[in-house]
Amino acid sequence: MNQDEDVSPHGMWSSRWLFVLAAVGSAVGLGNIWKFPYLTGANGGAAFVLIFLVTTFIVAVPMLMAEVLIGRQGRNSPVNTLRILVQQHRRSGWWVLIAWFGMLAGILILSYYSVAAGWALYYMVMMASGAFDGVTAEVANQTFAAFTGNPWLLGLCHVIFLTLTVIIIGKGVVRGLESSNRWFMPLLFLLLLVLLGYGMMSGGFSEAFAFMFDFKWVDVTTSTWLTALGQSFFTLSLGMCCMMSYGAYVPSNASIPGTTAAIALISTLVSIGAGLAIFPIVFVNGLEPAQGPGLMFVTLPLAFGHMSFGALFGFLFFLLVSFAAITSAISMTEPALAYLVEEYNASRSRVAVTLGVLCWMIGVGTVLSFNVLADFTVDGSRTIFAFIDHLTQNIILPVCGLLLAVFCAWRLPRLVVQSQLGIRSRSIWWLWQLFIGVVSPLAVAVILVMGLFPCVLTQDCGA
Ligand code: PHE
Repeated sequence: MNQDEDVSPHGMWSSRWLFVLAAVGSAVGLGNIWKFPYLTGANGGAAFVLIFLVTTFIVAVPMLMAEVLIGRQGRNSPVNTLRILVQQHRRSGWWVLIAWFGMLAGILILSYYSVAAGWALYYMVMMASGAFDGVTAEVANQTFAAFTGNPWLLGLCHVIFLTLTVIIIGKGVVRGLESSNRWFMPLLFLLLLVLLGYGMMSGGFSEAFAFMFDFKWVDVTTSTWLTALGQSFFTLSLGMCCMMSYGAYVPSNASIPGTTAAIALISTLVSIGAGLAIFPIVFVNGLEPAQGPGLMFVTLPLAFGHMSFGALFGFLFFLLVSFAAITSAISMTEPALAYLVEEYNASRSRVAVTLGVLCWMIGVGTVLSFNVLADFTVDGSRTIFAFIDHLTQNIILPVCGLLLAVFCAWRLPRLVVQSQLGIRSRSIWWLWQLFIGVVSPLAVAVILVMGLFPCVLTQDCGA
């Protein structure tokens, strides 16, 4: 453990921009482009979008600041960062459990994330082959169903993506990869704009816009709140100590409020952009907005299949999505990787392979959820994929986020937090404490209880 100097034993980002790039690389991924649109579609459109914006900016952003500042204060892997802080400030050792749950969540999330990223790899190849030229909605649907119905093909794509991830983290070229975000992210935004332009011309844009922004209270349910909250955490890579481990490498002169605000803003814009690109295609082609995880893979081939240079743009788009997925995937393993390297002095590559094999084994359950085990449910209603997704996104991430907020607000000395955030004014300090210590944790607690035990509201839990 390193406590003497204000640097991390794992190295540092050479500037705050590299931190922003890396954190954006972690935040922007399948969560924005794949998950956000299908969750919006399945949860009533505007009701979901508005609540997602509220939970992101009121609950998640303060928590993002808290995670980064805790990381920068401890300068080690999340487990050791929390160990150092509880020792220094004489707090209970139980707080360290948050980091263990974070590592667990990272592995569970990567197990299914890599399956979906494998789909993007497959679609990249399919696009390049011209298989989608002039495709109809029916064929696009059938192609996705046939693909996900084939466990061997799905399993192969899963293995390819995981192998790529393991090679990258094992070789320790993570930082180099993050800086290529400098080129890839703007290119991804550009291609999203092309898709957006296509959507605007397609005739379905106003319907899509209304679907996403015409808010009606009647569409809101307790599960909308929980799903939106979970998505805010997932998309900002929050609640699993990933941002804490990235925070450990942030130079001490970088402003945490400024950088985290930029990260949240960029990630949210990409999510909204992806929704605005996908829903016009849904409505023009009479597709089902609530069809679930296949949404992006059915709609985008339709757009690319009908535009000029569609095969090229389509190939590029899925290439960039796969890249965005890799930069998120490597960040999921960072808490566990940094910890195992610190604790056992193990080589990065051995740890990477071990984590990769673990994720692969758990991921087989997700692969089979779309075919052989499609009818098997873990808790009576969810497939293995849906269950792991629900457990991590809707339970572990919010709970860990809540605990970290409480830790930051009530267990760290005021001076530490003030100097980390650069807060000098009293009123700003009280505002910060109000949010991180009261509003955000309370909101998470209420949403969790309402979402997980809806009977509390109707008062028939005993029945
Ligand atoms: N934020 C990433 C995305 O939106 C996913 C992620 C979750 C990454 C948790 C790291 C930790 O795709």
